[in-house]
Amino acid sequence: MIALTVADDEDAAARTTAERIASAIAAARAERGVAHVALAGGRTPGRTYRRLAHLPVDWRDVHLWLGDERAVPPGDPDSNERLVRDTLLAEPLDPPPLLHSVRGVDADPAAAAAAYEAELRALVPGDPPRLDVALLGLGEDGHTASLFPDDAALEEDERLCVAVHGLKPPFGRVTMTLPLLRAARKLILLAEGAGKAWAIGVTLNGPSARVPASLLADANVELITDRTGAPA
Ligand code: 6PG
Repeated sequence: MIALTVADDEDAAARTTAERIASAIAAARAERGVAHVALAGGRTPGRTYRRLAHLPVDWRDVHLWLGDERAVPPGDPDSNERLVRDTLLAEPLDPPPLLHSVRGVDADPAAAAAAYEAELRALVPGDPPRLDVALLGLGEDGHTASLFPDDAALEEDERLCVAVHGLKPPFGRVTMTLPLLRAARKLILLAEGAGKAWAIGVTLNGPSARVPASLLADANVELITDRTGAPA
């Protein structure tokens, strides 16, 4: 089921998203003593991560994963890991959450995907592992994480992470797959702006492989947007 939340503007959308992530972390820690959170890359979520850093979250036993990563070194401006380090982890969180890097993604994305999957299977309970909350973005071309429109990776039903050649630079990427994302206790899709309104519409009315987020509709999804992205 996809629930739609329309915030007034980008700032309100970021605030709502940060609050949802904080609540999911608190619920997971209360119920299982640990929280597993997947984060998105791109331009949009930085504002959310900065807000999240200022919420009263108990970060003990919180594991941060990356829903996708670009094939660049961790310090590269295009790295999703760097985005998280420069925003959420730039604040003095005590103790800091544990960020799981997609190690070696710049050298060998396929090997890095296999290693990341093994790490997820070892640490996140469930088969498939159940992330407590995963934040996803939506590209203007319809992609989510690094699951691109009509890509063969959408057919994946066993592997939890795969290497893909994206439609947008940097082209080399590692992404979580649909089986892993569908198993998450909560998915938050944060997408705003008029340029994404069409993809938001397809997500809500799918399923369509043209907008892979629409293939997640059988999971517990909240789509958070602003007024400019909201369907008429
Ligand atoms: C990535 C992503 C990707 C992103 C969308 C939206 O690494 O590229 O995780 O799925 O969320 O492309 O990106 P913007 O927020 O920049 O529009």
